[in-house]
Amino acid sequence: MLSRIANQRLAKSFSKIQFIFADMNWDEIATDHVGIYIHVPFCEQLCAFCPFHKVVYREEFKALYLQAIEKEIHRRGVRGKVEWVYIGGGTPNLLTPQEIGRILGALRKHVDLANIGMEGNPLQFTPTYLQQIRELGVEKISTGVESLKPDTLKHVNRAKADEAHIQSIVNFAKDLGFTVNVDLMVGLPKQSNQDFLFDVDRVGAIDPQQITTYPFMEIPGVRVTPEMDSRNMFNLIEQAGEILETYGYFRENVWVFSKTKHIYDSARDELVIDYLGFGPAAFSKVGESQMVNPPLALYLDMLQNGKAYAFQTTVDEASEYWRKFAHELYNLRLDPNVIQRLPRSIKIVLALLKLAGNVNGQHVTAKGRFFVHDLTKTVVESLPFPVNNPSAISNYEEYEKRLASAKSLLLKKESTAEPEKTPLTQTTNF
Ligand SMILES: C[S@@+](CC[C@H](N)C(=O)[O-])C[C@H]1O[C@@H](n2cnc3c(N)ncnc32)[C@H](O)[C@@H]1O
Repeated sequence: MLSRIANQRLAKSFSKIQFIFADMNWDEIATDHVGIYIHVPFCEQLCAFCPFHKVVYREEFKALYLQAIEKEIHRRGVRGKVEWVYIGGGTPNLLTPQEIGRILGALRKHVDLANIGMEGNPLQFTPTYLQQIRELGVEKISTGVESLKPDTLKHVNRAKADEAHIQSIVNFAKDLGFTVNVDLMVGLPKQSNQDFLFDVDRVGAIDPQQITTYPFMEIPGVRVTPEMDSRNMFNLIEQAGEILETYGYFRENVWVFSKTKHIYDSARDELVIDYLGFGPAAFSKVGESQMVNPPLALYLDMLQNGKAYAFQTTVDEASEYWRKFAHELYNLRLDPNVIQRLPRSIKIVLALLKLAGNVNGQHVTAKGRFFVHDLTKTVVESLPFPVNNPSAISNYEEYEKRLASAKSLLLKKESTAEPEKTPLTQTTNF
């Protein structure tokens, strides 16, 4: 009961956010200590579980995208001390190392980069690829294995990577000095409890420095429905923890098991400092302002025409505190310096969580881990991603009109180009 109230209170503080789609003046955004997120919106095929912004890969889209993102980086400029860079997607390793180098090169004209991470599909990582991105300064990679079971993957339209390939990529990457994370998912349709535990055991044996076990979340945009409830997913993640302990992993937070402190943690990265996002549908957060770039067709149009618009919102102080608190819980350890600064209303919730046995001193208890898992999942499922989410945009009609016109311009370009294997009209979300 108590847990449910705290859960709802937190989820509400995230989901009430409304965006306005409007012209954007990036010069007014002042920041001196930033993370940089680069979104690469291409995939060979579209996995049914994935809610992120992406289109089916096409050579000519990629060329337009690269021109646009370089322009965006130069036009917006990047200021401040960069703490981390994360290239996410989509499937960033559908770009060649030279193309990744173009993007990093554009950023390096403005700032010194640090702590560069990149995600990618295991199928597109090869020894040469890894060697070349390492030379560009990439230090961390994260790869989505999701499952090793062909039936589970087929059901969600995802191509399977062989275990031997994954093993060789992980070994090679570690030898090159990368920190490697592997993502697994639990609760995919047609995936049994045993299937997931089998995957955990195999990936533990493969020995990346970090393994993330994501519960399948029903975020708007996913095209399959979870068949497993949150409690069952949690129990399986707990069992995964026991298996991974035998391989030498410790629990880093509610879903991440690690052998290193040099970990990937997008939740930490995005909550602790301001970050600037580049590329279609990329999020930026500076102080209380949150901005989201338009989706691909409108993003290309905007940069070709020297315009700047974004979905914009303000995160109020109270929500910001709730976020900080949620993040402490997610880490399973509460930092007294952060807790001390929280307002009374949150301290009362914390006291109640202690009374209910979810938190003991500065630690989330075994009982509390379910609360944190369920809370994080609810929060992520109720985050308002504005792209394709009319209810999160106060002036949706205006946005829709601009998007429709940008799409038709892109379609016109396509009709004058050579016929292609995958017509634009079969890609989604663009
Ligand atoms: C942005 S995706 C990129 C994956 C990358 N394209 C690849 O093929 O490896 C990053 C991770 O998010 C996780 N993910 C995607 N959709 C999810 C969902 N609906 N619920 C939970 N985790 C999800 C997956 O584990 C995935 O590896």
